[in-house]
Amino acid sequence: MQGTRVLVTGGAGFIGSHLVEHLGARNDVAVLDDLSAGSLRNLETVPGDVHVKRASILNRKALSTAMEGREIVYHLAARTSVPDSVAHPEAYWRTNVQGTLGVLKAAVDAKVRRVVFASSAAVYGNSEMNPKVETMRPAPASPYATSKMVGEFACEEIASLKGLEAVVVRIFNAYGPRQDPTSPYASVIAKFCASVASNEGIEIYGDGGQTRDFLYVGDLTTALELAGERPVAGQIINVGSGSATSVNEVARLLSEIAGVPIRTKHGEPRPGDVRDSRADITRAAAKLGFAPHTSLRDGLGRTLVWYRTQRP
Ligand SMILES: NC(=O)c1ccc[n+]([C@@H]2O[C@H](COP(=O)([O-])OP(=O)(O)OC[C@H]3O[C@@H](n4cnc5c(N)ncnc54)[C@H](O)[C@@H]3O)[C@@H](O)[C@H]2O)c1
Repeated sequence: MQGTRVLVTGGAGFIGSHLVEHLGARNDVAVLDDLSAGSLRNLETVPGDVHVKRASILNRKALSTAMEGREIVYHLAARTSVPDSVAHPEAYWRTNVQGTLGVLKAAVDAKVRRVVFASSAAVYGNSEMNPKVETMRPAPASPYATSKMVGEFACEEIASLKGLEAVVVRIFNAYGPRQDPTSPYASVIAKFCASVASNEGIEIYGDGGQTRDFLYVGDLTTALELAGERPVAGQIINVGSGSATSVNEVARLLSEIAGVPIRTKHGEPRPGDVRDSRADITRAAAKLGFAPHTSLRDGLGRTLVWYRTQRP
C-alpha cells in the first residue's frame, strides 16, 4: 500500500500502533483513539507524521471529522477482554457494537472506500472443532465475542445496503512488543515475557496443555495491509499462524531463549477457557497471499528483548 489516506481507530493500542508504524512511512495515516487502553508512547517510533485525535468512536462529530478524505479505515478500537466483558457487558455493547455501527455509518457518509474490521477468533466460541474455518457457525460464549459477531454482521449489512467495501479479519492470538502485561486479563505471552524480564516466576492456569494459535504482530500487520488492498471486499478471513502451541511449550521456549530456568507455578484452570484453538489459514493464503514468516522462537525473542528494555 502506498500513498493511501488511512484512518486507524484504536491506533494507539498494541496492534494499532504496529499497523500505524508499518503503514506510516508510505501512507498518510491518522489515528482516532480515546487512549482508554492505548498510549501515545506506543506511537513514538512511528516514521513520518501521524495525526492523532484523542476521542472516542462514540463521539460522532470527532468520528466524521476523522473520516474526512480517508480511503481506508482500519477499525481496531474496542474493549478487548473476554472476562471483563462478562463483568461489564453493557460497556462492551456500547463500544464494540454501537461504536462499530457508528464507524461504519461515518465511513459511508465520508465515502470511505473500505473498512477493515478487527474481529476475533472468540466468535468461534467453545467449539472443539479445530482448525477453525470461516464457514463454521459463530458460537460466541462471552459478551466480547457476541459484540464482535454483531460487528461482523453490521459490516455485511452496511456493505450490501450502502456499497461500502467491508473486510472482516478474525484475529487469533497476536503477541509482540507493546502488548500490555499489567491487566489481570493480559495475554499469556505478554504476562510471561514481563515476568521473565523482571526475573519473576510465571503462573500457568491449569495443566498448561491448552493450545493457542499465536501470531507475531509483525505478521499480523502484513495481513492487515493485504486486507486493505486485495480484492477481498465482503470476505471474512482468519488471520493466525495456522499452528497450535501449548502454554507449556511457550514457557519452555522462553526459558531456552532467556537461558535460565523459569520458576513455574500451576494455578486453577480459568473457567470458560477453550482447550484448543487453531486457525485454518487457507483462505488468508488464497485470497490475501498471506503466510506467517516469524517463527514463535524468533517472535518470542523479539518480544522478550522489548520487555527487558521496559524495565525501570
Ligand atoms: N490482541 C489480540 O490477540 C486480538 C485478538 C483478536 C482480536 N483483536 C482485536 O484487535 C483490536 C486491537 O486489539 P489490541 O490487542 O491492540 O487491543 P488494545 O486494547 O491495545 O487496543 C485497542 C485500542 O482501542 C482504543 N479504544 C478503546 N475504546 C475506544 C473508544 N471508545 N474510542 C476510541 N478508541 C478506543 C484503546 O485506547 C486502545 O488503544 C481490537 O478490536 C481487538 O478486539 C485483538
